Amino acid sequence: MAGFTDLREKLKSMTPHRDTVFEHSNGEKRKYRESDDDDDSEYEERRDAEARKVKSGIKQASIFTQEECALIEAKIDEVVAKADKGLYREHTVDRAPLRNKYFFGEGYTYGSQLEKRGPGQERLYSKGEVDEIPDWVHELVIDRLVTHGVIPEGFVNSAVINDYQPGGCIVSHVDPIHIFERPIVSVSFFSDSALCFGCKFQFKPIRVSEPVLHLPVRRGSVTVLSDYAADDITHCIRPQDIKERRAVIILRKTRPDAPRLDSDSRSPSIHSSERRHILKAKRSHRKADPDAAHRPRILEMDKELQRRSLSSRQRRHGDSSSENSWRRTEEREPGSRHTHDHAPTRRVKMRRH
Ligand code: SIN
Ligand code: MN
Repeated sequence: MAGFTDLREKLKSMTPHRDTVFEHSNGEKRKYRESDDDDDSEYEERRDAEARKVKSGIKQASIFTQEECALIEAKIDEVVAKADKGLYREHTVDRAPLRNKYFFGEGYTYGSQLEKRGPGQERLYSKGEVDEIPDWVHELVIDRLVTHGVIPEGFVNSAVINDYQPGGCIVSHVDPIHIFERPIVSVSFFSDSALCFGCKFQFKPIRVSEPVLHLPVRRGSVTVLSDYAADDITHCIRPQDIKERRAVIILRKTRPDAPRLDSDSRSPSIHSSERRHILKAKRSHRKADPDAAHRPRILEMDKELQRRSLSSRQRRHGDSSSENSWRRTEEREPGSRHTHDHAPTRRVKMRRH
C-alpha cells in the first residue's frame, strides 16, 4: 500500500536484539545474550510451563476446504467493496494503516476512540449503530461451526472481520472481558499466519519480544480461545507474521451485562456528559490528513495497545483500573504490577492512560 511503511522492514534489523532488555509476560526482565546457561534453563522452564497453560485453553480445527475458503474470501471482498462505497453504518467500519475492521451485530468503542482510555472503558455502541451480521456469515461460517459442535446455536451475536495487509499487526491485548463471553472463536482466510501469546511490544523503533507461544493460524483453520489463553495472557498478530494479505472473522457473544453507550442522551444508563468523555470522533470519519501517508505508520499499534480488557481477577474484584495490558517499557514504573491468585508466576503490567 503506497505510503505505508511495512513494519516488517523495521523488525528485520531489530528482533531478537542482543543486549536489549525485554520484559516478558511473567514480569521478568531479561537481556538477550548468548550464554547465562542456568538462568536460561530456569527461564525456559517457566516459559514452557506458561506455554502449556496457554495451550490448554486453545482448540483448533480445520473445517473449511480450499473451495469454501475461496467462497468466503469473495464475500469478504464484497464487504470491503461495500465499505469503500460508504454503504455501511458509521460504526461498522474502522480503518487503520494496514488493517481495517468491519463490525457486525455489535460494535464497541476502544483505543483512541475513548477520551478516557484504559482498562474496562470499552463500551458497546447502542443497538443498531453497526450493521447486522450478513447472511453469508451465518450460512457459510457460523452454521458450519455449530454443525461441527464448535459453538452452540445462537451463541454468536458479534462478527468482526479484520483485514490485514502485509506487515499489518494487532498489538498484544486481551479481548475485553466485561464485553465478551468466552470462548472467542476466529477463522482465518487468504493466507497462513500466526497468533502469538505473551509478546511485549516496544516502539520507536518497533520491537516485539519472543512469544510465550507461537500458534500457526492457517487459512481455513478455526481457533477457539478460552480460560488462560483468553483471559490471562495477551495475544497479538506480529507484523512479521502477516506476509500476505490475511483476514480473520472473529465470532463472539457479548455479555448481557456489557456496558453500552446509549444513543438517547436522556437515558439513565450513561449520562450525556459521561458519554462525551467516553467517545471521541472515530478516526475513520475524521477528515483525511494529506500528510499522513508520509509519516511512519505505527499508529495501528498505538491504537490497538489501548484496546484492553480487565483480567478475570480484576473483574472479580471490581478493579476497573486496568486491563491486562502492557505498558511501553519507557513508560513503566516500579510497583505497577498485579499478581493473579490463580497464576502465581505471572504478573500483569498495567498501562496508565
Ligand atoms: C485479534 O485478536 O484481534 C485478531 C486475531 C487474529 O487476527 O487472528
Ligand atoms: Mn483479540
